[in-house]
Amino acid sequence: LNGLLEYAEVMESTSDRALELGQAGSPSGTLVMAERQTKGRGRRGSRWACPEGEGLLFSLVLDPDVGKELWSRFALVAGLAVAEVIEGFGLEAGIKWPNDVWIGEKKCAGILVEGAADRLVIGIGLNVSVRSFPAELEATSLLLEGVPKPSREEILAGVVQGIFRWGSLVGGGYEKVIAEVQKRLVFRNQLVRMLWQGEPCEGVVRGLNDEGHLLVEMNGVVQAVVQADEIRSVQ
Ligand code: BTN
Repeated sequence: LNGLLEYAEVMESTSDRALELGQAGSPSGTLVMAERQTKGRGRRGSRWACPEGEGLLFSLVLDPDVGKELWSRFALVAGLAVAEVIEGFGLEAGIKWPNDVWIGEKKCAGILVEGAADRLVIGIGLNVSVRSFPAELEATSLLLEGVPKPSREEILAGVVQGIFRWGSLVGGGYEKVIAEVQKRLVFRNQLVRMLWQGEPCEGVVRGLNDEGHLLVEMNGVVQAVVQADEIRSVQ
């Protein structure tokens, strides 16, 4: 790694700052981290809130050696990197396509992939030692899952290394990433409801295709879903 490291107790959003640095041409590997964010962002304009010091909130600037049309692949790369680190604590991690990491039925980490000029920014919020969540969030943390003293330094190093390792396969060898993600895919062979092309619809998750798109069987036809929101299991 030869990037910069920018750390602050409080920041509006590490991803906003990383996007600025990316736009200014910061080198690949630049890392922005904060203890607390006042404008932490999730996907689709949602907020990412986390009590001070209890989470890992960071954004990594990358200068990928693949075309922009492949950048969205880094969502699964980052999800896999986070999942492997969680597994290193002896827990089972699930990847909720395209970019959440779950433990059991609860979210433990969220990933936001964005582009800034020639740079890619991967923002990750990981619940390390959060003690409680509002019930409606259906979230969990490593501490709540029984890891007494998770080391944030080790987690951060592991995730960043994983992103570089799996990220090197985005342009060639991506099927290895897909295969690893498939093993951990949440909702496999389950009926889900989701918003697809703006419409609510239902189908059974069958896996991923070579591009990393979600294969969903709807009315007997398997569709490759490139983008969908609010995917939930139908009980
Ligand atoms: C999601 O689950 O919708 C994605 C959440 C991503 C949150 C992280 S926290 C660090 C980085 N900075 C932000 O403002 N967002 C990402």
